[in-house]
Amino acid sequence: MNLTAYDQVRYPSRALWVTHPYSLGAMARLFGLPAAPAARCRVLDIGCGEGGNLIPMAAALPESHFVGIDLSAEAIATGAECVRTLELPNIELRQMNIMDAGSALGDFDFVIAHGVYTWVPSAVQQRLLQLCSELLAPHGVAYLSYNVYPGGYVREAVRDLLLLHTDPDGDPYARVSQARELLAALAEDRRKPDPWHSMLRQEVEDLEKCSPEQIFHDELAPQYHQVYFKDFVARARETGLDYLCESELADMTPFGFGERATRFLDQLASQDRVLWEQYLDFFRFRKFRRTLLCRTDAPHAGSPDPNVLRQLHLSSGARPSGAGASGGERWKNSDKAVIEVVDPACSSMLRRLSGAWPQAIPGSELLRDAPGKEQDLLDLCTIKFVQVHNGAPGAIRPIADKLQFPRLVRLQAASGKITNLYHYPIDIQGDLAISLLQLGDGTRDRKTLIRELVKKHPEHSYSEIAGGIDQQIEHLTNLALTSSDS
Ligand SMILES: C[S@@+](CC[C@H](N)C(=O)[O-])C[C@H]1O[C@@H](n2cnc3c(N)ncnc32)[C@H](O)[C@@H]1O
Repeated sequence: MNLTAYDQVRYPSRALWVTHPYSLGAMARLFGLPAAPAARCRVLDIGCGEGGNLIPMAAALPESHFVGIDLSAEAIATGAECVRTLELPNIELRQMNIMDAGSALGDFDFVIAHGVYTWVPSAVQQRLLQLCSELLAPHGVAYLSYNVYPGGYVREAVRDLLLLHTDPDGDPYARVSQARELLAALAEDRRKPDPWHSMLRQEVEDLEKCSPEQIFHDELAPQYHQVYFKDFVARARETGLDYLCESELADMTPFGFGERATRFLDQLASQDRVLWEQYLDFFRFRKFRRTLLCRTDAPHAGSPDPNVLRQLHLSSGARPSGAGASGGERWKNSDKAVIEVVDPACSSMLRRLSGAWPQAIPGSELLRDAPGKEQDLLDLCTIKFVQVHNGAPGAIRPIADKLQFPRLVRLQAASGKITNLYHYPIDIQGDLAISLLQLGDGTRDRKTLIRELVKKHPEHSYSEIAGGIDQQIEHLTNLALTSSDS
């Protein structure tokens, strides 16, 4: 068997909450498509790699079924080993080329292809869209991420430079080192300020956060094909798919434009939605999209219906942060963005959600005490102060007598890279927190946990462990990690 670049250099894959059926289903339903419930659905991940995104979904949703396919035999073997360790009966990972995949896989409520479309030849791009069209259930949702113009032009320029600078047949890690050295030179301060240089520097800063494996596969790959959004939608339409929405409301909402730009975009919005979004990409110089598609014949709307929030679940990890300048209350979200909320009904919805965190609350319950506030609640979702889910993440529970984390979390703990119950990737720091995650299997009470932590960590004093354990547990609970699942 021919080894692929992904067999030679493994690609790190982790949970991506926007691809979870909670999130995909919520977006679809807001846009008029009655998507399948997360608790009972079928999901296909095309180009799933080691299953870092799919396996946590399967662990969290035992009644749903998951299939992952990938060309890389090594990646599939690693994922399959993890599936065996977790004894998950509801997921299959298969080594398969997109070009050979077809209806034998069955049909799916959700099809995910993250980080694939841009990096495959055009025939595979075409087949990927066809496959989504063939395999989607009547109310199914496909998620595809891809790089777009015009923002992609800067990335493409940097990529062209890196390809010019590195030997395509050279050692992958040596190429990445060479690329990094050149990027540092590119980002270096100039004697005279230069707007082009600021754009380049932003691009380089984004790349600095990437792992060597990501740089190798994402920037130095032989195949790299960006598109304009309107052309992507035109290709999707040729295969019987239609544009549903983006994976986050914020990505479809024009923020911060002046009067003339807003008037122009408003006029266009009423005429052609796809063209409107294409103009928005130019106005924002956008470089990346995470698009949801549905079958052309499936019911779907051009804008979100706030009344649908009554059928969904909502959560918020936002926290109050003092009085605002206009007499309202300041709130800070997990991205550290701050807003002032003046409307008391909105403040009270946020307080209710924040008090319930990490639990989600049914929208119907939340809106019962805030009648007529559907649009305000949707606005809070759009600015990322409230998250919307099609279903409630199972059995999150606050500090319990016998601390319990899901089995997957206990297994992931050693690496410090874990997935929370909302399918967010979380990095855990500190040996005590990691040990607590491993020991929290529902059999140990607080006293036993302290005793075992002291035994395991002689480098920490008893008082340090006993004095800090409640804070640690609270911290891990706030990360939406505790559960009553085994
Ligand atoms: C950039 S990685 C993304 C992996 C994963 N979806 C993620 O987001 O972490 C692209 C994946 O697509 C797979 N791939 C590329 N061409 C493929 C093909 N023709 N058929 C199946 N998988 C393919 C690669 O093996 C690789 O695992």
